[in-house]
Amino acid sequence: MPDHTIIEPFRIHTIQAIDLPSAEERDAALQRAGYNLFGLHADEVIIDLLTDSGTGAMSTEQWAGMMRGDESYAGSRSFYRFERAVKDLTGFSEVIPTHQGRAAEKILFSVMVAEGDIVPNNTHFDTTRANVEYRGAEALDLVMESDPSEILPFKGNMDVDALRATIRDVGVDRIPLVMMTVTNNSGGGQPVSMENLRAVRAVCDEHDIPLFLDACRFAENAWFIKIREEGYADHTPKEIVQEMFSLADGCTVSAKKDGLVNIGGFLAMNDHDVSLQARNLLILTEGFPTYGGLAGYDLEALAQGLEEVVDENYLRYRIRSTEYLADKVAGAGVPIVLPAGGHAVYMDAKALLPHIPAHEYPAQSLAIELYRNGGVRGVEIGTVMFGRPGPDGGPDTPAPKELVRLAIPRRTYTQSHIDYAAEVVIDVAAGAESLRGYRITDQAPWLRHFTAQFEPLGK
Ligand code: F0G
Repeated sequence: MPDHTIIEPFRIHTIQAIDLPSAEERDAALQRAGYNLFGLHADEVIIDLLTDSGTGAMSTEQWAGMMRGDESYAGSRSFYRFERAVKDLTGFSEVIPTHQGRAAEKILFSVMVAEGDIVPNNTHFDTTRANVEYRGAEALDLVMESDPSEILPFKGNMDVDALRATIRDVGVDRIPLVMMTVTNNSGGGQPVSMENLRAVRAVCDEHDIPLFLDACRFAENAWFIKIREEGYADHTPKEIVQEMFSLADGCTVSAKKDGLVNIGGFLAMNDHDVSLQARNLLILTEGFPTYGGLAGYDLEALAQGLEEVVDENYLRYRIRSTEYLADKVAGAGVPIVLPAGGHAVYMDAKALLPHIPAHEYPAQSLAIELYRNGGVRGVEIGTVMFGRPGPDGGPDTPAPKELVRLAIPRRTYTQSHIDYAAEVVIDVAAGAESLRGYRITDQAPWLRHFTAQFEPLGK
């Protein structure tokens, strides 16, 4: 068989128009938004790579499922279809729907985490970190060390020795659970190997600490295991997913990623007692345990999405389309985290803009320029998102990395859209030395990146 292009394994059935505002309009939009790209109207963006979360296209089967949604308040048919789909993939006995991932996190940590506790994770996502910290606990990142440009198969892995050392230093009593984020979003969308999951599981077993997966991108992680880890080439993605979950005691999931839906999430686990407490909190904030803040039709779409996402043709295309963008921009010499992540390409602003110090937000400057240049919206994952405001107005404590994430919505953009985005990235990188830093003029006490206001520093 000749090696043909890996194509989108679907055809377009419904479309939404997109348009590029003029350069003047883009400048005005930036000023109006206080240089915060979350403040742009989506109509002001032509290729929106802000997030892969809830931004994908659903299939005809998912839309058909929505028509079948059973909106009974308690015990709806749609809930049981959803519960079967989650149990089939995860094997967990207790399945609790939530409106999205952070609701599952909030509920889980409210039940399991107390003030002064420490939660180790390979790398916490921002909402996960914020929810741990909101409990008065510490969110500790223990991802293996690696250089952004170093090509390794599983850069999302946890440093197992560091986990052991942490348990030894702080004591088991202060560690209510260990989490593993698959794929490791904030660490470059990098996967975690089955071997590493097994090793973390073994440490947790030694100390009787529960292991939870933050499993938003479980299927993408499974595909990487299939193509990169010895012994898995002949396994189906579904078998790999099942094995991954079998190593954990529970999971939080934002179904807006690998659930292939626009809204939804769930918390699942084996511990019946913890699940009862979680369900009581669910009733307080999300709704009755058989709908958890979702409509019956959302549960139908999600159940169908969980089946579609483990399809080999879909995953092959999905991982290749992200890699395609990475190949194009890295081929032109733009520094990115290598290898490409599953859902996103992460530009390395520290390497591209060495003249902008961390407290002047190089990755924010780069993200702004991508929009100004070509209407492409990415997101800063650097000191704005993960740094700390300095005491008494001093410079921020920098984040370890300064990245701009270009996240690819699922089943949404074609190859020519991605070609266009790559052209914008390459053009901006060519003029990198003309970019300047920013200062924050207003910020919230947590998750500041969503609403912070910025001002350009002088040229
Ligand atoms: N965990 C990870 C690893 C995530 O990437 C996200 C969301 C969440 C938890 C929270 O889920 O948004 O449904 O409440 N990530 C999105 C992103 C927002 O852009 O990466 P949520």
